[in-house]
Amino acid sequence: MGSTSYQPFPTPHDPPLTAIVIGAGLGGCAAAIALHHHGHKVLCVLDKVHEFGRLGDSLGLGENAFKLLDKWGCEVDEIKRIGNQAPNMTIRRWKDGKELAVQPLMDMAGYIGHRGDYHDVFLKWVRRRGIPIRMGSEVVAYEDVDPQPIITLKNGEKLEADIIIAADGIKSLARPLVLGMRDDPVSSGYACFRAFFKPTPEQRKDPTINKYMQSDCVNFWIGPDTHLVQNTLRNGEEFNWIITHKDDGDVPESWFQPGDMDEVRRLVQTLDPDIRGIVEQTEKCLDWKICYREPLPTWVSPLSHRIALLGDSCHAHLPTSAQGASQAVESAGCLAVCLGLIDRKEDVRIATRAYERLRFPRTRASQTNGEDLRNRWHGVLKGVDEEREVDPEEVKIRNAWLYTFDAEEDAKTRWEDVRAVVEDELKAGRIRPLC
Ligand SMILES: Cc1cc2nc3c(=O)[nH]c(=O)nc-3n(C[C@H](O)[C@H](O)[C@H](O)COP(=O)(O)OP(=O)(O)OC[C@H]3O[C@@H](n4cnc5c(N)ncnc54)[C@H](O)[C@@H]3O)c2cc1C
Ligand SMILES: *[C@@H]1O[C@H](CO)[C@@H](O)[C@H](O)[C@H]1NC(C)=O
Repeated sequence: MGSTSYQPFPTPHDPPLTAIVIGAGLGGCAAAIALHHHGHKVLCVLDKVHEFGRLGDSLGLGENAFKLLDKWGCEVDEIKRIGNQAPNMTIRRWKDGKELAVQPLMDMAGYIGHRGDYHDVFLKWVRRRGIPIRMGSEVVAYEDVDPQPIITLKNGEKLEADIIIAADGIKSLARPLVLGMRDDPVSSGYACFRAFFKPTPEQRKDPTINKYMQSDCVNFWIGPDTHLVQNTLRNGEEFNWIITHKDDGDVPESWFQPGDMDEVRRLVQTLDPDIRGIVEQTEKCLDWKICYREPLPTWVSPLSHRIALLGDSCHAHLPTSAQGASQAVESAGCLAVCLGLIDRKEDVRIATRAYERLRFPRTRASQTNGEDLRNRWHGVLKGVDEEREVDPEEVKIRNAWLYTFDAEEDAKTRWEDVRAVVEDELKAGRIRPLC
């Protein structure tokens, strides 16, 4: 196990293509690992924060991500072990917990675990490959120039590489700077209150609140315009709830904004008592506005075509998609494959333009899948509280089709066609917008 037994592909280029990855989140780590595996030279991964905390709460990684990580030599069992072990998840009625549908947990996100724990494993995988992660390195400027774009760090240092990958998250600085377009968050009309904590021994013993704390389990309570996700991990040691509700306020778009527990208690007044107790007893939570970005017409810088966005910076997902991290992993695989299929360094532009072309429809489908689920849960179920019988199929998560996909195989299969199209566009100097 580990770096000693790990062998990347031989480089397809001599000398190898050099890359810098901006952002050491799950997307940036995946990009570094994928490029390294395909024989490219990752000079470094930069992150503006000085150290990572155990941030966020539940995050899912699907089989579509695991199959790529596995090919890249990542020990995916390290993730699976710390993910939720429940076989099934249950979708329930908001007011009384009545079972509306049961389906295998693998139908949704695959293994749901703590984002911070998953992130730790990804960071370890990067380090095992000897790829430097430079913390406290904030990128403040981009120069979109050939043959190597240049980035400037806050301390004034300048770095350059054959390709720059901006995996700098939903509030990406690269997006407005590189693409030269305004970039306003679009409210989804919803916000989440979310809490992740270790229940006390008393709470675990209290029969009025411990029903969903005994072992790993995932349940959803759905009601008109609202739903609650419950995720119990590590055999009851860790507990997470997320309430999505209509939001007309102006909570800032932040991962760290504290939530008002009085407001939460108001929201759960009508909730199934079997889960309401522990929510009411929760000490603190976060208030997390769910923002979108409109789909982007391009993910690649206009002049050198050598700065490419990846992950949340270009395809952020709703929580109901359960695919944000998995799609970032797919994008990493696709980009690494495209870079390996070009013959010469001058052709990086063909690889990046093929990458956005290959990835855009897939990420849109995955994004809208999450919107569809939210709309079904919040809308269809307006009838549920009127005692209407609900067809389980109406409320089931429909993600299974996402998991059979292999983003690398897809890129290889479609490469020749897409390459021909983008080469023509590059020659004509007119890149067709993605949307
Ligand atoms: C704090 C936090 C909590 C989250 N919690 C959840 C959760 O609970 N559930 C869930 O499903 N998803 C959560 N997400 C989103 C999830 O991590 C992503 O959808 C997915 O992992 C893909 O992310 P990414 O790597 O593209 O971007 P991110 O995970 O956002 O990572 C971007 C990274 O880029 C760094 N960065 C940004 N700007 C610069 C710059 N100018 N210079 C250098 N570095 C920069 C940031 O510090 C960050 O580490 C969270 C994200 C964050 C950042
Ligand atoms: C999971 O659900 C299936 C039906 O989808 C059922 O047959 C099985 O018994 C369930 N497993 C557990 C442990 O509840």
